[in-house]
Amino acid sequence: MSGTKRRIVVTAALPYANGDIHIGHLVEYLQTDFWVRFQKMRGHACLYICADDTHGTPVMIRARSEGIAPEELIARSHAQHVKDFADFQIAFDSYYSTNAPENRAFCYEIFAAMEKSGAITTQRLPQLYCEKDAMFLPDRFVKGVCPKCGAAGQYGDACDVCGQTYAAEELKDARCVTCGEPPVMRESEHLFFELEPFRDFLQAWIPKHTAPDVANKLLEWFSEPLRGWCISRDAPYFGFEIPGRPGKFFYVWVDAPIGYMASLKKWCDGRGQNFDDWWTNPEAELYHFIGKDIVRFHCLFWPAMLHVAGVKPPDQVFVHGFLTVNGEKMSKSKGTFVKARTYLDHLNPQDLRFYYACKLNGTTDDLDLNLEDFVNRVNSDLVGKITNLASRGAQMLHKRLGGRMGVMDAEGRALWEAARDRAETVAGHYESRDFSKVMVEVRALADAANQYFDTKAPWALVKTDAEAARQVMTSVLNIFRVLAIYLQPILPVYAERVARLFNEAEYCWADAMKAIEDADINPYEYLATRVEMAKVEEMVEAGKL
Ligand code: MSP
Ligand code: ZN
Repeated sequence: MSGTKRRIVVTAALPYANGDIHIGHLVEYLQTDFWVRFQKMRGHACLYICADDTHGTPVMIRARSEGIAPEELIARSHAQHVKDFADFQIAFDSYYSTNAPENRAFCYEIFAAMEKSGAITTQRLPQLYCEKDAMFLPDRFVKGVCPKCGAAGQYGDACDVCGQTYAAEELKDARCVTCGEPPVMRESEHLFFELEPFRDFLQAWIPKHTAPDVANKLLEWFSEPLRGWCISRDAPYFGFEIPGRPGKFFYVWVDAPIGYMASLKKWCDGRGQNFDDWWTNPEAELYHFIGKDIVRFHCLFWPAMLHVAGVKPPDQVFVHGFLTVNGEKMSKSKGTFVKARTYLDHLNPQDLRFYYACKLNGTTDDLDLNLEDFVNRVNSDLVGKITNLASRGAQMLHKRLGGRMGVMDAEGRALWEAARDRAETVAGHYESRDFSKVMVEVRALADAANQYFDTKAPWALVKTDAEAARQVMTSVLNIFRVLAIYLQPILPVYAERVARLFNEAEYCWADAMKAIEDADINPYEYLATRVEMAKVEEMVEAGKL
């Protein structure tokens, strides 16, 4: 175990307040949770920071259509998101909101530095405007006929049918999505954050702080002058008004990543901690977990913003791929666009944690949730291989031997030692976010333990030599206990029950070194049960509604 205690801030991307959490999002929030829980088990000071991303046109329009204030809408989503995450055993240290005073303050501070550096420019731009709604229309608020293939009902940024991308004003027969009126062109002045002044900084920064495939893609942009980023939006807009620019608001993507800082600040203020010790401190580590769709914001604009403001950019941006279900994009009509809540209504959150861990390997590859494979893996591995060790061992020990563990026999002890000796290898896989390799290790150790158990046949042995049977079960339970410790970041509730079985508190990584012998165990509590395909089908049906 490394001797120095690290100080680590970890973020997951802030989900839009405008929508429900779904199983695609969970790819991110779960892997981040695995990683943070692992760091905590290793004894490091590690914080899991997140918040709702509340600003922008969609929230404003939806609140308007429901006849409520945006603040009311975002409060409602906040409560739902918090509940969904908690039910998936995701443990944030701080889950805040971008619509917060701390965020406004940081936003003003960073913008002031951007202005001072001379990187803010202005430009008059023509844009689609709805006279009826008295607002400029973002791409997703205009629909019309694709200029390339003629498909109707396409949004103002790209055609779903032929894949063509275009500017909103190129759409034919364009209509405002909220009122159906044809928009007009109108000019307005906008603020741009110029990136060209940060070319050298970014070109050096990107390869050091992102994976090679991510860096290579980003660096393709550098063969031409970097384009400025439009950071303003016209009123009406739900967001922060830009200081000194009445009627102009910060584009939601300006204050969203700053929300990481605000959420950490909120946590610090509530605990008498100093923000700078956690973020600006060169000894502290900062990591962002994000999906591949938002790389540009986190690896171009964001480091440039922080750099100009003299705030430390992240040490590493970990980019993951997208979820597919049964090999295809999540689909509402197929019922595979499963909301977190719909999943929870039908299945056990622990099973999804287990399955995602089996498939997550720390790369940007997409991850497939194959529903049949999901059922098989949970049943054969989590229940059949791993949990069976405890359920058979503990139940037999209670029934036949007074629930008391003895000592391990030589063969069992050798297996237990081998399991224990994998601790640093398993830790290495966690550290590199290759959770699939953690699972490979655990499965192999479970296989060996099952083989030992079956060969020794303690259910027969107990009739002829009770003490020998006790030794076998003591060995099996000790090996199982090591596996539960290795799995704790992925299966925290499971591990908590295992700890209770052995009269122990929540595990830290070093607990894997210890053997439990000559001790009473508690009654066996349910740890995991088989999942039925019928339940999965019910969930998919419910998702279609
Ligand atoms: N609000 C922005 C992030 C702002 S961070 C300063 C956003 N929100 S989101 O709700 O659309 O997505 C949140 C995270 O979930 C993103 O990292 C995104 O990549 C991830 N995912 C959303 N759908 C996903 C899948 N289907 N699969 C895997 N990850 C996905 O982007
Ligand atoms: Zn309109």
